[in-house]
This record gives sequence, structure tokens and C-alpha cells, in this order.
Amino acid sequence: MRRVFSGVQPTGDLHLGNYLGAIRNFVDLQEEYECLYCVVDLHAITVWQDPIKLAANTREVAASFLASGIDPKNSIMFNQSQVPAHAELSWILSCVSRIGWLNRMTQFKDKAGKNRENASVGLYVYPNLMAADILAYKASHVPVGEDQKQHLELTRDIATKFNNDFSVEFFPVVEPLILGEATRVMSLRDGKAKMSKSDPSDNSRINLTDGTDEIVQKIRKARTDPDVLPGPEVLIEGDLKTEDQNKRPEAFNLLSIYSALSRQSLEETLKQFQGMQFSSFKDELADLSIAKLAPIGEEMQRLMADPGYVDNILQEGAIRANNIAQPILKEVHQIIGFLGK
Ligand code: AMP
Ligand code: TRP
Repeated sequence: MRRVFSGVQPTGDLHLGNYLGAIRNFVDLQEEYECLYCVVDLHAITVWQDPIKLAANTREVAASFLASGIDPKNSIMFNQSQVPAHAELSWILSCVSRIGWLNRMTQFKDKAGKNRENASVGLYVYPNLMAADILAYKASHVPVGEDQKQHLELTRDIATKFNNDFSVEFFPVVEPLILGEATRVMSLRDGKAKMSKSDPSDNSRINLTDGTDEIVQKIRKARTDPDVLPGPEVLIEGDLKTEDQNKRPEAFNLLSIYSALSRQSLEETLKQFQGMQFSSFKDELADLSIAKLAPIGEEMQRLMADPGYVDNILQEGAIRANNIAQPILKEVHQIIGFLGK
């Protein structure tokens, strides 16, 4: 079976990294796969969320899915807390997953920071819930940005251990789909930091709801270096050489963003802009970003002004998701030896 599952947290400003690393790929996969796209509100509360903002952010993520081209008649989109199978399977998988495995998760280390004793238990077991999201539907493919690779490896380990522990071939071993030329979009202010919702500087990211002026300003202010743009000599078999990447992280970030937005290879972009000054390249990048992103931002604003419409779509999606997950959960109960019909 070819079923896709992915999730996005409703934790604030959605940005270009979320779009290029995840949401745009969700749209592309709809033709070929049966797709479930989830606003993962249970994941969001692993750090405290203001209830009013959580509800607004949930609608914002849903609006971004719709505005980007997800067809809710075809794909199933819903918010996680409406389908009990996620929380339930998460408990079961927490009994399969190992403390040693979770201790290796770099996202927990980053998010918990120095004060690890004070992080929520939910933040620690976050990857088990993510495994439950995927396995509750026996999804085979998971489109994500590069930062989620480690969590998907853990999902594979959990699925394999469950199958071994109960001598079944029940859960699939999921394949990550890390697609496009911008699988890890970096901050516009620091080419060594990931573009992130939680960066205090709004200039570090292009938000999907940014208007034309903000997009232009942020790209103009984006950090660069004094040299002209490089050419294809920085590639080896189509991939960027690490030493070049490390020397000019900001330049390659902007070039990757341009490549992804224009759906061309990095090699083509390098050939196109070789020897050009950053100022001219930034004008081109701003024009392209506006052409691709501004219509999405406008449609998101329109949808967010109609919360009833968005809420209905999530509700209908939850019913369809539940219909897939319930029989799978029932089989899980039988495999484990839980009594009940
Ligand atoms: P999150 O906002 O953490 O729920 O992420 C939602 C999706 O966006 C996940 O698939 C992430 O891997 C992806 N993503 C988040 N930040 C970036 C980034 N800077 N570059 C590429 N993908 C990203
Ligand atoms: N952890 C993912 C992120 O922060 C979001 C997520 C939750 C997810 N459950 C998922 C992604 C299941 C893919 C599949 O980006």
C-alpha cells in the first residue's frame, strides 16, 4: 500500500522552510498516493501554548494546506486531537520504544536546552507520538524536511521492534520523502541556523502570511558575503561540496531557495547567476518569492477570516481519518492480547 502521512505543528508563524521542506511536497504527492495531512496539536502542547493562540494557529496551518493546493476532497486533512488513535497508540508504542533511543534524539536536546529537568515529559516522548501518528494509518511514506530524519529512523526502529516482539509483520517500515532543493532552509540572518518559527527575529524568516513589502525587505536585509555569486564548480556530482557550503552558507541558502522556488536544479541556478552581484540576485529572488508566495499568503488570510469553513474541513477529515485508524488499532489490541471487541 502506498499511503502518505505527515504533520505540521500549530506553533506560530509558518515560514518558507515549512513550505519548501514539507507543505509544497504534500501538494505534489496527492496525485500518486492516498494522503493524510495532520495539524499536530498534541505535539504542540509539549511546550506550553496559549489556548486562544493554539486554536488560531491550528486554523492557520489548515489554511496554509488549503491555500497551497491540498484538495480536502481528495486528501484527508484534520487536527490530531480529534482522532483518539494517536494518543492511544502513542501509549502502546511508548512501551515498545526504549529510553536509550529517546536519549539520542537531537531535537529533544535542542528544545529542552540546558534546563532539561524542567522540560515536559511530553517533549521527551514526542517521537513516540510521531511514530503513532504514522503507524496508526500504516502509512508507508512520510514527506518531511531534513530535520525530521532522525525521528523517522526511530519510527522505523519502533515498528520493527513491535513486529519482532509479537512475531508479526504488521507495521510497515516507513520511507522518508525528503524532496526538492531546499530540504533544510536556513535563517536569513545566519546561514548556520535553521529557519525556525521560534527564532526571535522576524527578519530571520519569510512567513507565509508576509505581504509583498515584507518579502522584499527581508530578502534585501538577508545576510550575504562580499564575493560575487559562485558557479557550478562548487558542485561534485550535483551536490554542493561541503567545504564550499561551510565557507558561504548564506549564499548557498539563498541559491537553494531560488532553485526550489523555480523548481530547477542547483546546478541550473548556479549557471544562471554565476558572477552576479548579490544585489541583482536578491532582486530576482524577491520577484520570484513574491510570485510564488504572495498568492498563498492572500488565500490564507481569506480562509482565516472564515473559521467555520476551515473547522468543517478539519472535522470531516477527522471522521475519515478515524475510519482508517480504528480497525488498525483494533488489530493492534488483538496482537497485544487486550480483551474486548
Ligand atoms: P514543524 O513546524 O516543526 O512542525 O515542521 C513542519 C515541517 O516543516 C516538517 O516536515 C519539518 O521538517 C519542515 N521544516 C521545518 N523547518 C524547516 C526548514 N527550516 N527547512 C526545511 N524544512 C523545514
Ligand atoms: N515532528 C514533526 C515536526 O516538528 C511534525 C510531525 C508530527 C510529523 N507527527 C508527524 C511529521 C508525523 C511527519 C509525520 O516537524
